[in-house]
Amino acid sequence: MPHTNSALSARYLKALHTYLARQKAAAGETARALGHSAVSAGLVTLDLAIIHEHSVLTLAPSFDFTDAGSAFLKRAGVFFTQALVPLEKEQRTTRQNIRNLRQRNETLRLHTAALATANRRLERAVAGRKSGELALLRSQDESRALYLESQLMQKKLRKLTHQIISAQENERKEISRELHDEVVQPLVGINVELAALGRGASNGVLSLHSNIARTQRLVETSVNAVHRFARELRPAVLDDLGLIPALHAYSKNLAARKNLTVRITAFGGVEALPIARRTVLFRVAQEALTNVARHACATCVTIAIQPAPGSIRMEIHDNGKSFPVAAILNSTAPKRLGLVGMNERVLMIGGRLTIESSPGKGTTVRAVIPFRPKTPKP
Ligand SMILES: Nc1ncnc2c1ncn2[C@@H]1O[C@H](COP(=O)(O)OP(=O)(O)OP(=O)(O)O)[C@@H](O)[C@H]1O
Ligand SMILES: [Mg+2]
Repeated sequence: MPHTNSALSARYLKALHTYLARQKAAAGETARALGHSAVSAGLVTLDLAIIHEHSVLTLAPSFDFTDAGSAFLKRAGVFFTQALVPLEKEQRTTRQNIRNLRQRNETLRLHTAALATANRRLERAVAGRKSGELALLRSQDESRALYLESQLMQKKLRKLTHQIISAQENERKEISRELHDEVVQPLVGINVELAALGRGASNGVLSLHSNIARTQRLVETSVNAVHRFARELRPAVLDDLGLIPALHAYSKNLAARKNLTVRITAFGGVEALPIARRTVLFRVAQEALTNVARHACATCVTIAIQPAPGSIRMEIHDNGKSFPVAAILNSTAPKRLGLVGMNERVLMIGGRLTIESSPGKGTTVRAVIPFRPKTPKP
């Protein structure tokens, strides 16, 4: 909105009056000084035009402005034009400044747009990184869980290894004790008897006969014990004659020693299994029978070997007192190795071992192992 400055108006009026009054005076300097003052006061062209018009009207009684070709009017115009110069200059500068400002604004807008694009890219990168970090965290969690699981398995494995080592040690102790009791002692006895024979040969034929018979019994006991050890460690009959004869031999011996009835029904095709698999079946039957003899208080055991689709199934069933299978297998107390060993052996050849046991029904150990009989080539 145009506005005037009264001090400036008065100065303008006075300067214009002086200029018009002196015919020869130059307008330039005074008028431009007024123009500068107008710029300093913040006036624009229109403000100065109003001041000028007001001054001309005020001076009208003193100078004749009415004539169209009035020299006063022309000179007043020159004064006004000179006064406008600083204002015009200032306005040019302002316009230039505005242009510069607009340019800067445009540059700023372009920068802002570029920044916004960069920002969006950054946001996308951050989001990507965040989801990467999440995936990393998730995979860290997973590997931590796997690590813990593997630690647990290592612990279990170490425990099992210790148990196997101590079981082996116990077995050796047992064998050593039995060798001492059942082989060495009879041998010492034989030696004593032989010495007595030497001394007592003169006592007559009758006493010689009874001494020899006693010595023979001692020798028989030792031979039987050695045979039993050999059979239990690795029955030669398994390699030489097969699984079924080996089971018969083992069962016969056990039945005689433990007062058990053992019945075997076996499908002959089982002998087509590789020896390693037949050994697994033999060891499972051996452990199951030993368990029956040791824990079941059973009177009768049956061993049944039958073909099944793509497999062979062996079941050892007793009529004993049964036991809580899951509780024993999952118990944290130091385990015995029989059941665990059976299971491991069967798993090792791709088979599956199950144990069913319930009061009144006894226990059934079932091993199913893969078997595909070779079809004879035509
Ligand atoms: N046929 C069964 N009838 C009753 N209880 C059984 C039978 N088989 C196993 N058990 C029970 O399961 C337990 C674990 O058997 P497992 O064969 O693993 O160990 P073990 O026979 O005690 O010792 P070992 O390590 O010398 O075999 C036995 O201690 C026994 O209590
Ligand atoms: Mg056992």
